[in-house]
Amino acid sequence: MSGPHSAEITATLADGRVVGGRVYRLVHGPQDLLSVWNARVVWDFAPAIGDAGAAGMDAALSALAGWLRREVPTTELSGDTAVQVTWPSHDVAVFPVLLAHGLVPTTVLATRPLGLSTLHRSTDVRVRKATMSDLDDVAKLAAEEMRFSAQVVGATPRDNADELIRINAERAVYFGGRVYLAELDGVAVGVAVCGVTDPADSPTLSRFLPAGTWGYLGQVAVQPNLRGQGVGAALAEGSLRLLEPGLEQGTFLFYDVANPLSSVFWPRRGYRPVQTRWICRPAANLR
Ligand SMILES: CC(C)(COP(=O)(O)OP(=O)(O)OC[C@H]1O[C@@H](n2cnc3c(N)ncnc32)[C@H](O)[C@@H]1OP(=O)(O)O)[C@@H](O)C(=O)NCCC(=O)NCCS
Repeated sequence: MSGPHSAEITATLADGRVVGGRVYRLVHGPQDLLSVWNARVVWDFAPAIGDAGAAGMDAALSALAGWLRREVPTTELSGDTAVQVTWPSHDVAVFPVLLAHGLVPTTVLATRPLGLSTLHRSTDVRVRKATMSDLDDVAKLAAEEMRFSAQVVGATPRDNADELIRINAERAVYFGGRVYLAELDGVAVGVAVCGVTDPADSPTLSRFLPAGTWGYLGQVAVQPNLRGQGVGAALAEGSLRLLEPGLEQGTFLFYDVANPLSSVFWPRRGYRPVQTRWICRPAANLR
């Protein structure tokens, strides 16, 4: 049995203002790549609190917690479930409230304007577009990224994770054509699975980014024994050089706040936090 798919949440503040938001039930099924990093059932809450700040967020989250307990079966709130709230990274005034309700910051959406010069120490790394004959290398390196970031976010292990990563890599190479490989002496040592998108076509992204074509960097990884030697810097520089031409906006990516590598690496390359995803697992723990 499943709960409602979406609902409007409302709460009234002492001064009469009405706040709330919309909650959506997202299911990451066994064939969904996002299940590798996310809970099976995610209650995604989009707060609508106007200028009510911390008090507004507090009331909206209390109303959400009450609604979940009243309307949703216990199975959809326990085990492999989560509540997720994405909120502007710079609105620190509400952070104490998010923490008090049991949410923790996990992932940052970061953007970078077009045409920034990139830091890049000269190396022997060559960056080129991947083709279908590179699929084994692309899938293997993308699986390295998956294993690393799944640990960072404490994701539930999925038996078919390697298969999902490979299917996604294949689609990205074949249909997107924006997967880049870093090579040292002709051997693939890093990958950047990238793409182009317009937030206007995505109900989720359009909440956070202006319309127009953006490039994105999805999975980026360097072979573990070669990290920290400049391969990633060369890969990022080479990938952006290939990705940026023709874009209207900039590029974006997601990095995990607890990732000791990417949380240093991307800001050094000009990526700045825009939105932060906060998670409470399982969903029943939302206070
Ligand atoms: C993130 C990653 C792609 C970076 O590639 P890399 O080859 O290790 O990076 P580089 O050697 O080019 O280092 C780039 C910078 O990070 C610094 N750095 C290297 N190792 C570091 C470490 N252990 N801690 C902090 N900074 C480090 C370098 O000094 C360098 O500094 P600079 O920006 O001043 O030049 C790579 O570490 C990786 O595959 N990590 C695991 C998967 C992952 O986290 N992917 C990103 C998901 S968003």
